[in-house]
Parts: sequence; C-alpha cells; structure tokens
Amino acid sequence: MRLPLVELHLHLEGTLEPELIFELAERNGVQLPWRSLEELRAQYAFSDLQSFLDLYYVNLGVLRTRADFATLTTRYLERAAAAGVRHAEVFFDPQAHTIRGVALDDALGGVQEALQEGARTLGVSSKLIVTFLRDRPAAEALAILQQILAGPVPIDGIGLDSAELGYPPELFAEVYALGRAAGLRLVAHAGEEGPPAYVWTALDLLGVERVDHGIRSLEDPALVQRLVDERMPLTVCPLSNVRLRVVDTIADHPLPRMLELGLLVTINSDDPAYFGGYIDDNLAALQEAFDLSAAERALLARNGVEASFLDPAGKAALY
Ligand code: ADE
Ligand code: ZN
Repeated sequence: MRLPLVELHLHLEGTLEPELIFELAERNGVQLPWRSLEELRAQYAFSDLQSFLDLYYVNLGVLRTRADFATLTTRYLERAAAAGVRHAEVFFDPQAHTIRGVALDDALGGVQEALQEGARTLGVSSKLIVTFLRDRPAAEALAILQQILAGPVPIDGIGLDSAELGYPPELFAEVYALGRAAGLRLVAHAGEEGPPAYVWTALDLLGVERVDHGIRSLEDPALVQRLVDERMPLTVCPLSNVRLRVVDTIADHPLPRMLELGLLVTINSDDPAYFGGYIDDNLAALQEAFDLSAAERALLARNGVEASFLDPAGKAALY
C-alpha cells in the first residue's frame, strides 16, 4: 500500500524553480542579475539560513501579478501530486510581496485560487498558513493580519519564519493572540538556528500547535520531555538542514534519535527548489542514509496525518 504523504512545512516561494524564475522574469520584463540558468544555479551554495534568505528574497522579485502567484502554486501542486502528496499545509509570506508594492489581495488571492483548483484537478487538499517575517516589525505583521482578516481570502493559520537568531517568538505575542482570537491554527519556526529557549517561548507565549524544525530542542532534555508528553509535532526538513549547514551531512541528521526519543516527527521539504528536493526526495535521502524499516516509514506517514490540521474525518480519509 502506498503511504499517504502529507506536507506540513513548505514555503510556496521556496518552490520557485530556476526555470520559473526566468519564465516569470520574461513575462514581467524583470531584469535579473544572472544571464543564464547556470549562473543562477551557481548561487545555490549556502553557508547558513541568512545566505539562503538573501537569494530567496531577490528571486521572488519576479512574482508580480495574481497570475504569477497562481502559476507558482499550481506548479508546486503538480510536483507534489506526482510525489504522491495528498494534503499540503503551505506557507506563504505576504510581507515579502507587499513591501515590494504587490497588492495583498493579488498575492494571496492568486495562491488561494490555485489551491482550490488543485484540490479539484489534482486531488491535493490544502490549508493556507500565512507566515510573518520575524526580522521585520511585529506591528507590520499585526497590520497585515488585520487586513487579511478583514479581506476576501480566508486563511487557516499563521506562522513565523525568516531570520531566527535575535528575533525571539515573544516579539509576536500580540499577533498570535489576534490569530487565536480569530480561530486560526498556530505554528512557528523555532529551534532551526535559534536556541531551545525559542521553542519554549513559541509554546508558552505564542501557544503554537506545531513547531517548525525544532531540531535544536534536542539540546534541552526537559524540552524534549515536554514535546514528547504533549505529542507536539515537529516539522523536520532533512535536506534543508544539510543545505543550511544545521547538520553536516544527511548521515549526521538526528532523525533516528528523534524517533527513538518518541518525538512526533514529520518529514517535509521546506524550500525544495533551493535545497535539492521535494518531500519524496527527502524521504529517499533518509532511506538511503538510515535504511528505515517499513514500520518507521509507516510511522512517519502516520505522524504527518496526525500532525495535520485536518478534522478527524479528513484524517481518516487519508488512510
Ligand atoms: N523562509 C523560507 N524558508 C525558511 C526557513 N527554512 N527558515 C526560516 N525562514 C524561511
Ligand atoms: Zn521553513
């Protein structure tokens, strides 16, 4: 039986493939700093999260119209469907576009329209999680959330991403309080490059229901115990961790230890156009490095379903 694949940590802007960057640049008359795909691809050697983000923010300058956001989303859903993904809870960074002069409703509306179409035509259901850039002012995030809540595009949840170190979760407590009051689901990146303390505060002060990455939690046994006791999901992204130098090689990834400890770990792709692969590629890399058993593969698939924000009937339908 093919295991149900669920993607819970995927930045839509991180699926912007080099070919699509050139296609959209041509469509929109955007001048790129690179003359060829090869020259662009040569930029994809990262030393840390910030070195990746610098390129990620430059590249998304080619996304300008509602149709561009729909194209980006549809291309991702086609690739996800080919990998066997049945349900995806995707991240989208509105601020990365509004600060460049793109209208919020064009960006978010283009994404939402393509997600609805993808559910119909590709059989991939989805949830839309708006992520706020933690290295920008919390007041800006709050204003965008208020605008979204008053606008035409419904969202399912909120998250926190971008440069982590120096931007602890508590800066965004008011944003999360509003999200909670509006009935949104709550997640945040924490413990990717940041310390375990950021995971504690994401739990205690933001009230997150999933921790994105969270792998530095392993440095704090009391935190691990809490995550296990609460069955708090961690959305782990192995190829991302290697490419952003959070771990040296895939063989050094702590996934086996996380499973042994009883953590509710899910496998995800983060920014697949940048990190060498989609969810199927992440699973294949783990398989090769750790020779996972059938029981371990099934556990990872079940964890993905359990950690999703689907209702019980939606979860049952995936098995
Ligand atoms: N934005 C896109 N990908 C990210 C990641 N892995 N961590 C933080 N912010 C991001
Ligand atoms: Zn991420």
